[in-house]
Amino acid sequence: MDIRALGYIGVDVADAAAWRDYAEMLGTMVLPSGDDNGFEIKIDDRPFRIVVQHADGAEGLAFAGWELRDAAALDDAAAELEAAGFAARPSTEEERASRKVRGMVKTTDPGGFALELFWGPIHDHQLFVSPTGVSGFVTGDMGLGHIVLGTTNLRESFDFYTKVVGFRVSDYMNLGVDDMVFTRCNPRHHSLALVGAPESVLYHFMLETHTLDDVGYTLHRHESQGLPLSMGLGKHTNDKMVSFYSLSPSGFDVEYGCGGIRVDEATWAVSEITSPSLWGHRHIPAS
Ligand SMILES: [Fe+2]
Repeated sequence: MDIRALGYIGVDVADAAAWRDYAEMLGTMVLPSGDDNGFEIKIDDRPFRIVVQHADGAEGLAFAGWELRDAAALDDAAAELEAAGFAARPSTEEERASRKVRGMVKTTDPGGFALELFWGPIHDHQLFVSPTGVSGFVTGDMGLGHIVLGTTNLRESFDFYTKVVGFRVSDYMNLGVDDMVFTRCNPRHHSLALVGAPESVLYHFMLETHTLDDVGYTLHRHESQGLPLSMGLGKHTNDKMVSFYSLSPSGFDVEYGCGGIRVDEATWAVSEITSPSLWGHRHIPAS
């Protein structure tokens, strides 16, 4: 199937109020929402990119919304899911209205993560204005950013995403026991990275700003407000992102960076990296 981008994600959180403050501190726009159980985050010209929803159970990824070109592409994708033995559950009108999309089909990946394949985001043409003066987030044809998932079923998940969903491998990182694999569906080096884990888990999602100053000011806000980091500033070996890892109120990280490369499909070849970072990304123990 022909996925164009990571269109949106949803996260389950225990403390939605803490997340409102957190999202604003990151420079994203918190949108007023109809109920007290969550809210949406806007980072660009789309009505939203992240749904934050209150959950009493486990915190983490509630769903990942993968964008297709059009209605025909979604029909093809649903047929390919079913041919490969995966569910392609139709969406309700209410679900499409809540995600602000014209078409959506739901499935579950081998690690148990809920996926929403969709086409036709419905624009509201509202301007993105960062509450902290972030100059903007890199989205467009690269989608909202990336997610890194730990999965109980790495081999099956790898096969699902590369053979059924159609993601291309950008590179591998050998962890000694098993590979971590970085996959793409557009010029962003990876929209999805997978690593084997004892339980399926969202390790982090990544937001990419336009400038290093955006990253620096946001890092400075963490430090001046005493907010926790998981890793300090560093530069990744593969996508060349200069980033730091913020510890969200839900215990998973938000990678916050700039300067990621664009993959050229005509010349890219798969390689193996042996370290995640060129410099920095020092682990910061929880205090
Ligand atoms: Fe990342």
